[in-house]
Amino acid sequence: MRVLLVGNGAREDALGWRIASSPSCDALFTTPGNAGTALHGTNWNLSVTDAKGIAQRALEERIDLVVIGPETAIAAGVADRARELGLAVFGPNRSIGRLESSKSFAKRFMERNGVPSARYAVVHGLDHARKVLATWGERGVVVKADGLAAGKGVVVTSGPAEAETLLAHWYGDRAIPGGGSDVVLEERLVGRELSVFALCDGRAMMPFIAACDYKRAGDGDTGPNTGGMGAYSPPHGFPEGFMDIVRESIFAPMLRDLAAENERYIGVLYAGLMWCADGPKVIEFNVRFGDPETQVLMPRIGGDFAGLLKSCADGTIDLSLAHVNPEPCVGVVLASSKYPTESTPVADLPADLRLPEGVRAFWGSSHIVDGKVSSPGGRVLTVTAVAATLHDARERAYEGVRSLRERFGDADLTFRSDIALF
Ligand code: AMP
Ligand code: GLY
Repeated sequence: MRVLLVGNGAREDALGWRIASSPSCDALFTTPGNAGTALHGTNWNLSVTDAKGIAQRALEERIDLVVIGPETAIAAGVADRARELGLAVFGPNRSIGRLESSKSFAKRFMERNGVPSARYAVVHGLDHARKVLATWGERGVVVKADGLAAGKGVVVTSGPAEAETLLAHWYGDRAIPGGGSDVVLEERLVGRELSVFALCDGRAMMPFIAACDYKRAGDGDTGPNTGGMGAYSPPHGFPEGFMDIVRESIFAPMLRDLAAENERYIGVLYAGLMWCADGPKVIEFNVRFGDPETQVLMPRIGGDFAGLLKSCADGTIDLSLAHVNPEPCVGVVLASSKYPTESTPVADLPADLRLPEGVRAFWGSSHIVDGKVSSPGGRVLTVTAVAATLHDARERAYEGVRSLRERFGDADLTFRSDIALF
């Protein structure tokens, strides 16, 4: 099978590595890819939002399966275009992709269909927001820009006063992340977070694997929200049978709702959940694999992962094609030092990372120039390790971080030191 993977982050390096090593994959192409995917196959230079170009080239190159990584490609209609040309696609069409690209669409969808989630309101301006906040009392408020903002459009505030100050800035200075004008206000949920990934073939929705990620920039969950600074899998400290609870309380109603609204969902549905005193509630849905979660999921998957994704794309999901190994995996993100405020380019990194046994690193957005890797900054690498226990996986991942920092010399990179530390 010839597989085309769309994307250029560390998620795609991890997906590409796992797909290329699947028995049913004969050739992998990635567009535009990065320094890591170049080692698993061939990179094309079409942008992830060039829906027409990607679909056309996939047809010409006799691609058997298109796998879509980032939400921007889904929002640009890459899946729709490719399906129109008769290609098998792992990734949802744009209309249902709004579960991620519009927070208000997702909230209304969940409310209509009884999927547990935080109380919310959609506001269209500062006066409107003030009126809503006046009725909410002193509880914590989460302020969310409606559109896609690369993980940077959400601010968890301590209460209505802080929320109002932020909204005055967003509306007053036209500074709403993502550039829209609607904002979702949400009740702040209290609990522990986890991400559950369900594989979907248009009819079935199967929770497959789960992880926990770390969204704040600094140790101890301080600092601004980022795209994610680290992750581990499987989740630790949740009730036994938590995947079954999530299947029943989150994915079963989602599946019924999609059927009721005549939507066929093919791809991965990522439920970002808060485990509250009364059970799991949805914080967000994403319509793709997570980053950095994927970097800790792929090292745990065995069997024919590419075949499993193809079975989803064909509407005949077959979970027996691949399996999840019990050994835990921990991943630590190395980011340029001012991330997420600024991205500082990093150049001249070695392409051959020579990591200790059991450690694997995945490149974020990057290019190889004269045998060296250059990165525009942001999340440069995710360093992962699998071991018999979470503790050992963590130790090994940080060993990998240390060895890379030594090899990288003066590259100005930062990381969190408390990933999977309990
Ligand atoms: P989102 O982009 O919607 O996933 O939000 C980013 C992060 O903000 C989440 O991972 C949570 O840590 C936090 N967050 C979002 N919504 C809520 C909420 N209703 N209650 C508490 N924390 C939240
Ligand atoms: N790790 C969070 C995300 O991929 O959205």
